[in-house]
Amino acid sequence: MSGLPRLTIAARDRAPGDSLAAGCFEDRELDLRGLDRGLAGSLSGLHQRAGWKGREDQRLATLHGNLAVSLGGLGKAGDLTPQRLVRWLTETVDLARTNGAEHLSILLPHHPQTLGRAAISRVLRAVPLAAYRFDHYRSPGRDGKTPRGRGRLGEISVIPPRGEEDAYRREASTAIAVAEGVALARDLGNTPASDAHPGWIEDRARALAADAGLEITVLEGDELAERGMGGLLAVGRGSPHPPRLVRLDWKAPAAGEDTPTLAVVGKGVTFDTGGISLKPPTGMDEMKFDKCGACAAIALAHTVASLDLPIHLKVYAPLAENMPDGRSYRPGDIVRCYNGKTVEIIDTDAEGRMILADALAWAVDEKPDALLEMSTLTGACVIALGYEAAGLYTPDDALAAELQAASIASGERLWRLPLWPEHVEQMKGVHADLKNAGPRWGGANTAAAFLSQFVGDLKRWAHLDIAGVAHVGHDQEEHPGATGYGVSLATEWIRASIPG
Ligand code: BES
Ligand code: MN
Ligand code: ZN
Repeated sequence: MSGLPRLTIAARDRAPGDSLAAGCFEDRELDLRGLDRGLAGSLSGLHQRAGWKGREDQRLATLHGNLAVSLGGLGKAGDLTPQRLVRWLTETVDLARTNGAEHLSILLPHHPQTLGRAAISRVLRAVPLAAYRFDHYRSPGRDGKTPRGRGRLGEISVIPPRGEEDAYRREASTAIAVAEGVALARDLGNTPASDAHPGWIEDRARALAADAGLEITVLEGDELAERGMGGLLAVGRGSPHPPRLVRLDWKAPAAGEDTPTLAVVGKGVTFDTGGISLKPPTGMDEMKFDKCGACAAIALAHTVASLDLPIHLKVYAPLAENMPDGRSYRPGDIVRCYNGKTVEIIDTDAEGRMILADALAWAVDEKPDALLEMSTLTGACVIALGYEAAGLYTPDDALAAELQAASIASGERLWRLPLWPEHVEQMKGVHADLKNAGPRWGGANTAAAFLSQFVGDLKRWAHLDIAGVAHVGHDQEEHPGATGYGVSLATEWIRASIPG
């Protein structure tokens, strides 16, 4: 659906395309070695212009023949973070497109944030993703094809820092596959609930499975009832679109005896009205993003399979629409989940944990070596961490360290939050084993504690509360919409889990 531009790696002596953008620091010389003489002249002309400092808010442009050449400030070299570099790349791609570029080249500076496998792969993912737009529902522009304002940017060439061409070429195909996975997760996440109901996501998952050689299993209706998946059934009951539990299975042909089995579970509430405990109207439209955990998990399976990673991956996506209706589950109801535990419903808006309870317990039943779960679970996590990081919950310090390493490699931030016995205490039910909502404060912690009751004896499990990072809201400055958070992070984690 998305159609990211083609990404290529170009040598420094040959800047392809109709536009070239270079970045430079306030406190460093511009490295022009190896560039075409005329181009180097144009860039140094910009660099020497009075008033040019290389501050982050500076941009200068000129023409070199037919090539539009621009210089962008990156601030002080010591201050450049992965986030700032990505912001510059995104703005650069945006501006080129706005100016009608068809083929943009980006000349990268030599810096720790552009060197080494992880940094290179961050850059190479960010560049095509900067051009991502969700245009599926837009009317065509004058040419009758491209949506209005979409531009014609079809190719972006990255010109690596001096001497780094081979390293960039080595990482390119993997980075492109991951970027495509992120774009896929965004497309699924951005699709409105009028189309993206559980059955639609099932169909998309089937198509992706056929495309990438994944095995797919889908539970619905009686099968869910026979297995005792009362949480998922309860949440889905108020909707005319019945719930599903999708499982995707990737068993690499190259897998050996010591190949670990990793489980990834994602919350797929295709729309969260709150149910009988109805949410207020303001911002409710953004609850179409309540399926982003499942979208990331499904896209991840496709990416891992298309990269042929030598691993065993099982993805579980519980899908339901949380609607108020005469058949809806209600506050006070008691629901029995797949692992036999009963839950008293306090608030039908605490639905994510109900569908995850069944999916987690099923995943753990199938004996994975480690389990990662991602969900837009609580507003409390957004209060705690804002839009900058997902909340990480795990009882396992080694797994926390692995995920923190994957977070740094991917640039998708997370921050560890506590999982203490007191939080479990606060989720004990009055007339059932558990209740689905606890006290007002610390709501992200008690939600995680609730989930911990469905993983049995597995210690290597982690929950990521992605409520603040799964989408960019209308009130934020960047491009609003699904981010695909989790695809890059989980791919890095999985790559690091490959034995040998
Ligand atoms: N999907 C929401 C959480 C959410 C809030 C995601 C804001 C993204 C942005 C979740 O199902 C929910 O409604 N959680 C409740 C739980 C409460 C009723 C215990 C919440 O956070 O208020
Ligand atoms: Mn809810
Ligand atoms: Zn929800």
